[in-house]
Amino acid sequence: MPSTVARILKVNHGGEHGASRIYAAQIAAARWRCPELVPELAELLAHERRHEQMFLALVPSRAARPCRLMPLWALGGFALGLMTGLAGRTGVFICTEAVERTVHRHLDHQLAWLAADPARADPELAEAIAAIQTEEEGHLAWAAERRPPQTGAARALYGAVAATVEALIWLSTQGESGRLGREMTVSRRRVA
Ligand SMILES: [Fe+2]
Ligand SMILES: [Fe+2]
Repeated sequence: MPSTVARILKVNHGGEHGASRIYAAQIAAARWRCPELVPELAELLAHERRHEQMFLALVPSRAARPCRLMPLWALGGFALGLMTGLAGRTGVFICTEAVERTVHRHLDHQLAWLAADPARADPELAEAIAAIQTEEEGHLAWAAERRPPQTGAARALYGAVAATVEALIWLSTQGESGRLGREMTVSRRRVA
């Protein structure tokens, strides 16, 4: 059975691949729908590709294997990117905000889990997650500052994107992401 660290790496690598596919598809759609966003989306895509390589580099030394659901991440990411890109600027911002906010919460749980027990200490992995999370915060801010006030339709799109990402994360970790989240919520309550 893969260790929690191996599952963390697997899902993070898969997720970054999905994020790359989202931005690649959004760029393709944005060339037609909102060409002014293409240079910024290209920058975000370059970040996601680097994140993917950073997690992949940590895989072999932690007995992890690349995620078996990579084709699903690729397909899901591309579909989300294309649909939201074709919806134009608002679709792009809502998708980015939903994805990055969801990812941020999971990275928070992972960092807290790694720090909760000295036996789990993995400074190299924690450092990579923290550095990537900082860049993801920039992506989130980019989208959140630009999206218009949320209407009912926007909220529905946000919910659908976030639910898709959550489902992919849950499947990639075989439910472990839920356990990490619950564990972190309980330990935070204890501290408070
Ligand atoms: Fe990323
Ligand atoms: Fe990102």
